[in-house]
Amino acid sequence: MNAPASETLQRLAHILGPHRLLTAANDLQPFLTDHRALYRGHALAVAQPETAAEVAQLLAVCNQARIGVVPQGGNTGYCGGATPDESGAQLVVSLARMKRIRAIDALNYSLVAEAGCVLADVQRAAEDADRYFPLSLGSEGSCQIGGNLSTNAGGVHVLRYGMMRELVLGLEVALPDGRLLSSLTRLRKDNTGYDIKALFLGAEGSLGIITAASLKLFPRIRATATTFAAVRDPRAAIELLARLRAASADRVSSFELIPRLAVELTVRHIQGVRDPLQASHSWYVLCELSSSRAHDALETMLSECLEQALTDGLLADAVLARNERERAALWTLRESIPEAQRRDGASLKHDISVPVAAIAEFIERAGNWVREHVPDGRLVAYGHAGDGNLHFNINQAPDADRSAFLARGDTVKRAIHDLVRDFDGSISAEHGIGRLKVAELERYAPAVELDLMRAVKHAFDPNGIMNPGKVLR
Ligand code: FAD
Ligand code: MLT
Ligand code: ZN
Repeated sequence: MNAPASETLQRLAHILGPHRLLTAANDLQPFLTDHRALYRGHALAVAQPETAAEVAQLLAVCNQARIGVVPQGGNTGYCGGATPDESGAQLVVSLARMKRIRAIDALNYSLVAEAGCVLADVQRAAEDADRYFPLSLGSEGSCQIGGNLSTNAGGVHVLRYGMMRELVLGLEVALPDGRLLSSLTRLRKDNTGYDIKALFLGAEGSLGIITAASLKLFPRIRATATTFAAVRDPRAAIELLARLRAASADRVSSFELIPRLAVELTVRHIQGVRDPLQASHSWYVLCELSSSRAHDALETMLSECLEQALTDGLLADAVLARNERERAALWTLRESIPEAQRRDGASLKHDISVPVAAIAEFIERAGNWVREHVPDGRLVAYGHAGDGNLHFNINQAPDADRSAFLARGDTVKRAIHDLVRDFDGSISAEHGIGRLKVAELERYAPAVELDLMRAVKHAFDPNGIMNPGKVLR
């Protein structure tokens, strides 16, 4: 190690004490690979701050020494954003020790959570106060609020409550120059100039480190009605969604599209998962209505709507969860699709969105392309159809050669993303850019937008120490 680096380490250790600055190779290992194992980096050290002031001091030192800083939350991100590069010169800052719920204000329907709080813990804290925090993802047992804010996470309730960006009232952020932006407001209205906090939401650690957030809460959910329904096709699914929204006074909280193959993969690879319906069908939806009123007639509403859809030929069959156990089983099927896909073999993943009304046409056109050009792949297009987001994934066919299949990745990505552009869609609906999609962002974002992003980056982080090589290069 060169002299300046070892001097910097000493200064960092001085801030944290010797035990919260990890430098031994074994201690660093868990922080060096991303969830999908796409990247393997090295690091100068891993810092484990416990307060916002410590985070700010770390950044001041790194800024002076021009050391790259990689914030890391639960490390469940899909785009390699939380993984250091291969240089061994970057500092990973793990927020895991900052996991205090600082305040809950039930009357104001808000809480303040530190960045390292695990999402499921925030959901529980809200529930304990008779409130509801609606962000919900398959990774909620390990992803952290700071990561959710920094990726602007989506998940299964976006059609009703919006993405993470829409659930934020205020932020506390340590800036690269060592200052702390303290704006943990609980206000619903505040028109005092630019919305600075908005820039950190979805910035993936490229502008500063979020240390805490003031979040919106909602009335606690007391009734749900959940169905797993076989739809005629994706077009029928979207028609059903439109009807359900109107018939239920907009109480649809989840609307997930699931193809047959995803059901087969979960039944095959995930213990305890069963096909909820007798016969097999090409497409399904998992749909949930929810309400804060215990006696809302949600099931009646849902059944009536499903019956009409059956009569009209939109549906072939449907089952309603009769209790919490059955409801949980349906959700396990849905949430374990990514894991089942992983166990089944290699997959080419595309996290795309198009306008909700265009989903069926997109699946038709992109699906035709895949069938024609990827004979060794099988389409598993599933996801949050209620908000227009599809995980347009292609799994290797059973006898396919893994490397030959993966070698087509770039060609497939180009075709899918070009089609997404033709639909005025997004090449990253909810997983972000990280390191994985930097070139894609450059290719598809309007030039003016890229210019403005670079200007913002320069204004916040003129020395380029924050998460170098992520989002923008
Ligand atoms: P990390 O992976 O640790 O970091 C993600 C990015 O945020 C990195 O760039 C990192 O540098 C930055 N970052 C982390 N903490 C901070 C901070 N405090 N300040 C500044 N920058 C920070 N995502 C969805 O949107 N919807 C889903 O439905 C969904 N389902 C998933 C299901 C599974 C099984 C898995 C494994 C992942 C899923 N994800 C989903 C992806 C992932 O869980 C989310 O992107 C999540 O928000 C990442 O949180 P994290 O704490 O793990 O962040
Ligand atoms: C999901 O919705 O299941 C995830 O965002 C997609 C994935 O894990 O691949
Ligand atoms: Zn998703």
